[in-house]
Amino acid sequence: MPGEKLEVIRIGAEAVVSRLEWNGFKMVSKHRVPKPYRFPELDEWVRDKRTLHEAKVIASLRKLGIPCPAILLMDRSEATLYMQFIEGIELKRALDSLPAEEVERLARELGRIVGRMHKGGVAHGDLTTSNIMLDKYGNLYLIDFGLSALTDDPEELAVDIHLLDRSLESVHHRVRATFMKSFLKGYMAAAGMEFLQRLIEKVKEIRSRGRYVEERRKRH
Ligand SMILES: Nc1ncnc2c1ncn2[C@@H]1O[C@H](COP(=O)(O)OP(=O)(O)O)[C@@H](O)[C@H]1O
Ligand SMILES: [Mg+2]
Repeated sequence: MPGEKLEVIRIGAEAVVSRLEWNGFKMVSKHRVPKPYRFPELDEWVRDKRTLHEAKVIASLRKLGIPCPAILLMDRSEATLYMQFIEGIELKRALDSLPAEEVERLARELGRIVGRMHKGGVAHGDLTTSNIMLDKYGNLYLIDFGLSALTDDPEELAVDIHLLDRSLESVHHRVRATFMKSFLKGYMAAAGMEFLQRLIEKVKEIRSRGRYVEERRKRH
């Protein structure tokens, strides 16, 4: 392992994320941990595939000019990615204390980023405010591409917008409406009206399906 481990940032369901320093250079490692309930050979294969997938998606995103951490090294034998440390905080932790104009600016910027990413054929797969980082200069970065997909399927792209909206609804209820309005403005600027319109239709579909499922759950 290159560098010295400073702290564990997050022990997630799938991966352990740690902060490291190597020759004064700050980085992050994301290690996909073995799952004891999986057959060992299968487990190794799954972890390797996901590690490789995340690195590939990040490589395509960087080509599209989407702000995300640069991959510095991939250790496939350990299912570990070493990447640039984004010095900042999760948007989730910043949103509630920011002034309204700043929230609108960030939402518009995020819309532009996501619109460009979708136009480029990438669905994030887990677009919540915990997977968006904000640095001290006010720049946004997307992280966590473990569930992402290279796709043009409007349904998969629409899931990103749906999830973002849901994460705002549950955690940042106060800013949700203005955030989404500015987000869609930015998205339209990057992806165009027609592209956005198609996705909005899909988002509505996904939402009504979700409501249907919830109602059925309540009845049973
Ligand atoms: N490159 C990075 N720079 C700074 N912090 C990061 C970076 N990658 C991950 N993190 C932090 O670790 C947390 C978990 O990482 P993430 O990739 O989202 O894994 P998980 O699958 O567990 O959600 C993030 O929410 C963020 O706070
Ligand atoms: Mg995450």
